[in-house]
Amino acid sequence: MAKYAITGGASGIGAGLAGRLEQDGHNVLTIDRSGADICADLATPAGRLDAIKAIQVWSPEGLDGFIPCAGLPLHTRPLSKIVAVNFFGSIDLVSGVQDLVARKRGSILLVASNSARMIETTDSMVQACLSGDEIEALEHADTKDAHAAYAGSKRALTLWMRQNTVRLARLGARINAIAPGVTLTPMTEDAYKDEEMGSTYRSFASIAPWGGEEATIDQIVAVMQFMLSDAASVLCGAVIFADSGTDARLHPDLV
Ligand code: NAI
Repeated sequence: MAKYAITGGASGIGAGLAGRLEQDGHNVLTIDRSGADICADLATPAGRLDAIKAIQVWSPEGLDGFIPCAGLPLHTRPLSKIVAVNFFGSIDLVSGVQDLVARKRGSILLVASNSARMIETTDSMVQACLSGDEIEALEHADTKDAHAAYAGSKRALTLWMRQNTVRLARLGARINAIAPGVTLTPMTEDAYKDEEMGSTYRSFASIAPWGGEEATIDQIVAVMQFMLSDAASVLCGAVIFADSGTDARLHPDLV
């Protein structure tokens, strides 16, 4: 029986993964704003610290897996909150629990998005994220449009993963990222209702060449379970696009 901690575990993909792991007989700790084993606001440094301490108390012997899945959608306001949760709420927790994961030679799985590739590495907000300057990154976010803030938070997350893969592997933890396309979750249902962005978001799902529709939570969870498992033990520093071919369609020259 393995032990996993999952942020954003009260809803959508995080709740789906928690349920599947529990069905398989594993121990899961969920962390979320509400409705979870541990309630903490990952938009704030204090909330992140509370979450880290709670994970340390729950499993001092180590973690087999850590999945920072909590995220906010592009219709969130202010936009800076998207970056606070999606980027800093993920990487601060990874840094806080990395020793626990290393103790069991476990696996860290970030939850990015296929929108990550739509933003340049040189983007000022992405660079502020990577330099660890949260105040500057959040200021940049508030000057952006919603898509740039959301996709930029995920771009920074995948780049941070690549820049920390070797360090974490030496420590004893392998890290990867899944990049889902549009997936039918409460977040997506909310986004579809948004007056400004709803129709654009809905039409984005339809460009997926393999199916042309949203993924289900179960489909994304199946890929995540594989990435966390020993069967995927050679996956280290990988971004897996689980988006029915949308990224390949938009970026045929990138591998
Ligand atoms: P969801 O809204 O169902 O779940 C997200 C969870 O994160 C919620 O339980 C929410 O309470 C939690 N959360 C948000 N802000 C928080 C905070 N400040 N502190 C603690 N918890 C907080 O959304 P979904 O769709 O399951 O998203 C999960 C992850 O997948 C997110 O990182 C999202 O960006 C990513 N993703 C989702 C896609 C989709 O189409 N649904 C596509 C690509 C990536």
